Amino acid sequence: MSNKRILSGMRPTGKLHIGHYTGALENWVNHQNATVPDGGRRYDTFFLVADYHSLTTSLDTTDIDTNTIDMVTDWLAAGIDPEKSPIFRQSRVKQHTELFLVFSMLITASRLERNPTLKDQVRDLNMETLTYGHLGYPVLQAADILLYKGNTVPVGEDQIPHVEITREIARRFNNQYPLGDGSGVFEEPEPKITRFARLLGLDGKAKMSKSLGNTILLSDGPDDIMQKMRKAVTDTGKIRKNDPGHPEVCTVFSYHERFSPADTVAAIEQDCRSGALGCVDCKKMCSAAISRELQPLHEQRKIYAERPDMVRDILIDGEERARHVAESTMQEVRGAMKL
Ligand code: ADP
Ligand code: NA
Repeated sequence: MSNKRILSGMRPTGKLHIGHYTGALENWVNHQNATVPDGGRRYDTFFLVADYHSLTTSLDTTDIDTNTIDMVTDWLAAGIDPEKSPIFRQSRVKQHTELFLVFSMLITASRLERNPTLKDQVRDLNMETLTYGHLGYPVLQAADILLYKGNTVPVGEDQIPHVEITREIARRFNNQYPLGDGSGVFEEPEPKITRFARLLGLDGKAKMSKSLGNTILLSDGPDDIMQKMRKAVTDTGKIRKNDPGHPEVCTVFSYHERFSPADTVAAIEQDCRSGALGCVDCKKMCSAAISRELQPLHEQRKIYAERPDMVRDILIDGEERARHVAESTMQEVRGAMKL
């Protein structure tokens, strides 16, 4: 039996922050390196720079190339191994657009209007301003996944409806264009519920996000991190010295929970509650814990940051390999459709 396939992607938004790491990249690396008992790989992994997807929310492409190189540099630094996992730009593999067009005929506009993630993204759903492409982004996503016969989709619990659209499109295609033996070209992918650590913003907002300017970048060094940590919002919004604190509502404590060892977290919780540990020292410990975890990434990052041509070559190689798989799927698609 062949390995399960995973396709994951991110829009090229530039240098990544530690939320991208705990919420996606770390899991990507784990999936890439997961093995089965005989020592082989559990999954074949493909990582997509979703540059077309970035057009759904901004048409400005001034920085798209720099952002792509910066983002892929972070992927490589974090341990994505281009030998194991093709890394490629969506726009360089034309089969994405071709399958997107076919799939766009297999789902109704009203089904896409009911997509719950669209409702999260666009506060007031206004059909006068929403583009056709933005409405159709789950269709492009279905093409992204199914071109590589992705059959496992790692998602957080809240994103299951997303995978459902891909499943519906696969089913619809198979029913409409069955193969001679009655089977279908596509397998309906299964969501794989994965725990993603959602990181709060430095300002205490529910999400660390570039657009909110409340991030610690993966490329930030110890001094940058300490500088940013000074401004991090704590439980009371004030810097406590020796009055009792409330770790359960403290942003800095939530970072400790992710980046500090368990026994340290337990000690910090106790000392915060008792007032023995003030915010200044707690923040210093937190910065150090984050820096410690990022240090190996920084060493790797330096290698690639000094060699942007190497990153470009990795993309070109990934694109060639991706195109090979994608074209083989498209031949099946065209065959089934008699095109
Ligand atoms: P998109 O490109 O889908 O708009 P983002 O660029 O915001 O999403 O994020 C890319 C990936 O990183 C997604 O898988 C997202 O869930 C994850 N991510 C982004 N910010 C955070 C965060 N603060 N905490 C956890 N995960 C995050
Ligand atoms: Na993304």
